[in-house]
Amino acid sequence: MQSAILTIDPEFRIAEVPPRLFGSFVEHLGRCVYTGIFEPTHPSADDDGFRTDVLDLTRELGVSTVRYPGGNFVSGYRWEDGVGPRETRPQRLDPAWRSTETNAFGLGEFAAWSHRAGIEPMMALNLGTRGVQDACDLLEYCNHPGGTYWSDLRKAHGHTKPFDIRLWCLGNEMDGPWQIGHKTAAEYGRLAAETGRAMRMIDPSLELVACGSSHSGMPTFGAWEATVLQEAYDQVDYISLHAYYHLQDGDLASFLASAVDMEAFIDDVVSTADHVRAKRRANKRIDLSFDEWNVWDQTDWREQGPPDDWPEAPPLIEDTYTVADAVVVGSLLIALLRHCDRVTVACLAQLVNAIAPIRTEPGGPAWRQASFHPFALTARLARGRVLRVDPVAPVMATARYGDVPAVHAVATYDDDSGDVAIFAVNRNPAEPVELTIRHDAFARHRITEHTVLSGDDLAATNSSTNPDRVIPVSVPVDTSGHGSARAYLKPASWNVVRLTDPDRPRDREE
Ligand code: AHR
Repeated sequence: MQSAILTIDPEFRIAEVPPRLFGSFVEHLGRCVYTGIFEPTHPSADDDGFRTDVLDLTRELGVSTVRYPGGNFVSGYRWEDGVGPRETRPQRLDPAWRSTETNAFGLGEFAAWSHRAGIEPMMALNLGTRGVQDACDLLEYCNHPGGTYWSDLRKAHGHTKPFDIRLWCLGNEMDGPWQIGHKTAAEYGRLAAETGRAMRMIDPSLELVACGSSHSGMPTFGAWEATVLQEAYDQVDYISLHAYYHLQDGDLASFLASAVDMEAFIDDVVSTADHVRAKRRANKRIDLSFDEWNVWDQTDWREQGPPDDWPEAPPLIEDTYTVADAVVVGSLLIALLRHCDRVTVACLAQLVNAIAPIRTEPGGPAWRQASFHPFALTARLARGRVLRVDPVAPVMATARYGDVPAVHAVATYDDDSGDVAIFAVNRNPAEPVELTIRHDAFARHRITEHTVLSGDDLAATNSSTNPDRVIPVSVPVDTSGHGSARAYLKPASWNVVRLTDPDRPRDREE
């Protein structure tokens, strides 16, 4: 059997786990909102029409922050349509997804849902068809306490307390020709800078995200980030990244190694942001908001195209996730943790139904997709400081990325509880790996748990009738070692190995 070694040490600190790394995304897209989080006629719906089964799963998923309302949708959205009495809200065409938007769910509903879900809202602005004035109006509606036109309108709509939204995206994927109001980097950079400047005249403490490239394969990638940041450096705190991966031509090894691409993408954006920083002699550092990431096979969407009859809440891009997809999701989370000194916001796109870890049937059940599990476990167990680990591992040949280490890993150490969690993926689809964990620096610790997501059928999925076909399982652990432990990593598996200090009092129930 192949073997690998990794060493954990509390001094190998990358950063504290940023809570916003476990964000997600709710877009007015397909059935994410309607019959996803909001379905007033559903048996589980609360007084506001929110599905409580979905709320429960959202909390279980451990989501910290949710970006809203798009995505491509936001670039043609008038937020005023979604506030005030529901019977006066207009129906509109949503050109982004060629759907009819009823506006039954809008800003006030999202604020209330966020509160109930216990998440921080992250608001995206329309900088496609709109601009500075609209952004200021929306900010005033959301955050100003009262005594002005927009803040009093919010109060008249029943929201006496401001929503106090701290984190704002200045548009969405403005580099993409598919985006309504698509712009050049220079046009967008100026607009982002002027919008940010005006918003900060209202509230200097806002945190603002400028649009980076829609993906690293865009022809303008790199130049786009440099131009936008040259224009807007002083007005923004983050630059965004988006990336979706999928199995192509049955090449499982490359797919399982998708995090190689994500990590290179992050490194390139960090370099570009720091290049602009050097040029501007700036002290301030721009962080990264990876505010759309997931596994998404866009082939069907590209082939079928959008609906042509403007349906309401059609079932769009409802990808069903396999074991292999879930392993990749786990690996992408490891990549984010490995770079969390600079990536401090990230959003799994999306939350419900549309490329999502949670699926629902209208009027029916909600269930966890396979990809739900690595996210929920990482969000729950990655506590405290993130530790760099560099496994000495066999390499694996991939067609897309060349030779890559078979083991991809990161660890966290929680000073409060003393717990260590090691997240590790065996990317090799065919060969198991015996992993030796050297923990001399945590000499008293013992392995207490090894949880695995894998399976003989990597194409297995969950469904409404078989919602627990794919679940993580606990496997026996080697508890004998002093300063060293062993874990068997199945081929194509996502693993979390927990080490605890038996001498530490455990004062909290898990
Ligand atoms: O998440 C689905 C879509 O992917 C979003 O609307 C868009 O921003 C991206 O291209």
